[in-house]
Amino acid sequence: MTERIVLAYSGGLDTSVAIGWIGEATGAEVIAVAVDVGQGGESLETIRQRALGCGAVEAYVADARDEFANEYCVPTLKANGLYQGHYPLVSAISRPVIVKHLVKAAREFGASTVAHGCTGKGNDQVRFEVGIQTLGPDLKCIAPVRDLALTRDKAIAFAEEKGLPIETTKKNPYSIDQNVWGRAVETGYLEDIWNAPTKDIYDYTATPEFPPAPDEVTISFEAGVPVAVDGVKHTPLQIIQELNRRAGAQGVGRIDVVEDRLVGIKSREIYEAPGAMALITAHKHLEDVTIEREQARFKATVGQRWAELVYDGQWFSPLKRSLDVFIDDTQKYVSGDIRMVLHGGQAIVNGRRSETSLYDFSLATYDTGDTFDQSNAKGFIEIWGMASKVASGRDLRVEGK
Ligand code: ARG
Repeated sequence: MTERIVLAYSGGLDTSVAIGWIGEATGAEVIAVAVDVGQGGESLETIRQRALGCGAVEAYVADARDEFANEYCVPTLKANGLYQGHYPLVSAISRPVIVKHLVKAAREFGASTVAHGCTGKGNDQVRFEVGIQTLGPDLKCIAPVRDLALTRDKAIAFAEEKGLPIETTKKNPYSIDQNVWGRAVETGYLEDIWNAPTKDIYDYTATPEFPPAPDEVTISFEAGVPVAVDGVKHTPLQIIQELNRRAGAQGVGRIDVVEDRLVGIKSREIYEAPGAMALITAHKHLEDVTIEREQARFKATVGQRWAELVYDGQWFSPLKRSLDVFIDDTQKYVSGDIRMVLHGGQAIVNGRRSETSLYDFSLATYDTGDTFDQSNAKGFIEIWGMASKVASGRDLRVEGK
């Protein structure tokens, strides 16, 4: 039987050419798999037809939008997952869901190998292959751009020579990856890290300099999961989409960073994640009201580690799973409403309410109704400072200053 290879197919030039390129280099049949994670653009049917037109023996498309929102974006939100404090893991969380569908398709179509279009310099190759190794240990991996010398020039020449049904003239100077959680833009003019991004780079967000009137929004959460916007119940996917529109219109969620890739390179990245950033801001503020202080402090550390693991392609790892259990446990009382104003590139919280709040008005107030016994503070401070006081006494004795 002819060997079969499942290819992660985007519909773009590189992976369209990869279908025939892999076929010629390996003699295998190629099955194209396109996964919808809310990237927008062409319909999946158009993409499917193109894959077949480029020589795929089968083309399989999966609508994974709700799965991606519920099982990947929501856990990222619960973790307040921001790699290096900035990046909401847009591409990093889409790879594992794509991997699931690739492995499923490999089983269904009897393939021995999975192929992807990543280069050898980025994180995504690692995320794909570590994921595939974990979910399908018997499957082999191949990356035509990295392993079969499929350069951009060769891709264009191949497409023209074979008359493939794909645009070769439209030259986008950037490498873009997008889904419902956000959009990542890199390379080209951005590689000079002093260059400010030009307006044409952005697609999910409008320029915040000339914003429309402020947009006040109330987001409701139940156990850390967003469940409603302005009192109207929605699925997480619908909520992310609505906030992408509303926060995007205000220019919220633009991020410009130099980030540490897993392969040891620092790289310039522009992200747009209006919905994700608005949601993470709201969620964090609700946690501030509902999570006990020590648990909250520890969770911040766990969330940071969680983001690093996910960034580093360890989505399916035991440690990531264990951290998920901790994070889920912290979310038990993260329920209630956050009101925020989206305006001029910012999402600013101005109200919160929760049945499970730890905010105690009678403890906090400086007005009448105060139940906090201030006389306890004096003794508390005496003991709280004791260890430092003893140490500084010793320093004085030994060092004489
Ligand atoms: N640097 C980001 C990450 O590693 C985004 C990568 C996006 N890929 C792309 N082809 N632009 O998660």
